[in-house]
Amino acid sequence: MNIIAITSQKGGVGKTTVAINLSYSLAVRGYSVILVDTDPQGSVGHSLSRNTKKRFGFYDAILDGKPFDELLIKTKLPNYQLITSGITGDYFDEYQINTSTCLKRINYLFDNVRSTSVDFVIVDTSAGIGAITSNIIREIDTVIMPQQSEPLGVRSVPQVLKKILGIRKEGSKINVAGILMTMVNPQLRECVEAESQLRSVLPANIMFQTSIPRDNVFLRASSLGVPVGLLSKNPVPAAMVFDQVAAELEFKLGISNINYQDNGIEGLLD
Ligand SMILES: Nc1ncnc2c1ncn2[C@@H]1O[C@H](COP(=O)(O)OP(=O)(O)OP(=O)(O)O)[C@@H](O)[C@H]1O
Ligand SMILES: [Mg+2]
Repeated sequence: MNIIAITSQKGGVGKTTVAINLSYSLAVRGYSVILVDTDPQGSVGHSLSRNTKKRFGFYDAILDGKPFDELLIKTKLPNYQLITSGITGDYFDEYQINTSTCLKRINYLFDNVRSTSVDFVIVDTSAGIGAITSNIIREIDTVIMPQQSEPLGVRSVPQVLKKILGIRKEGSKINVAGILMTMVNPQLRECVEAESQLRSVLPANIMFQTSIPRDNVFLRASSLGVPVGLLSKNPVPAAMVFDQVAAELEFKLGISNINYQDNGIEGLLD
């Protein structure tokens, strides 16, 4: 099992879009997946179905101690389940949180998640690494950092990396799978420069090679409440990009559910 948080210092960089579409691509590749929304704005639930508003979720578990088996919501894909931010998420206030109880309940929740032995748990987080997200990061395995390709956006990268390093120093085993460039517009010079600037200063293995293009289908998909892969019968090209992110993630984690023949470097024909 791999529990992966989608985290960034800045808001509106595409975390929820990445969480929904990457988790869906992983499920389509045959993995069992739970998508967990830990953002009190409840974007995952609101994006995917209006009905999920009435269901218990993450904040009901950590603020009210609601049991784990009341949180899981089935989807039409048998290997893809959701946990929304829940009912209490709407009234969430950082000051309500008694940190030690909250920490214990986050810990307990992720123990329960691990006991399901699904392949992937994708955790959407709110912007910034506040009390809740820090505690989540202590409990999980991997972080993906979406990063909008704009000149000011890239400045927040060192801040997040520093916070994650701090959490590692406290004993967490958290790994950074990579920074994923989002909303890349190849026709905008500033956008292309921001991306290449970041790639030139950071080690190649900390960046995803795949970038998410700016494309209005993502807006359309979230307004219709579906991952982009479900927008039409033949998936639009923008949906394929998340298959590529999923493939790159498999490579980074050293896993695969595709049976490649181990032919070494022998040629295909002779
Ligand atoms: N690649 C993209 N191309 C075009 N629009 C996008 C793209 N990714 C996300 N968007 C749109 O940008 C807006 C912000 O995206 P999203 O909600 O995923 O960001 P977020 O980081 O989760 O925001 P928050 O910090 O508020 O939780 C949404 O309206 C979304 O539909
Ligand atoms: Mg979001």
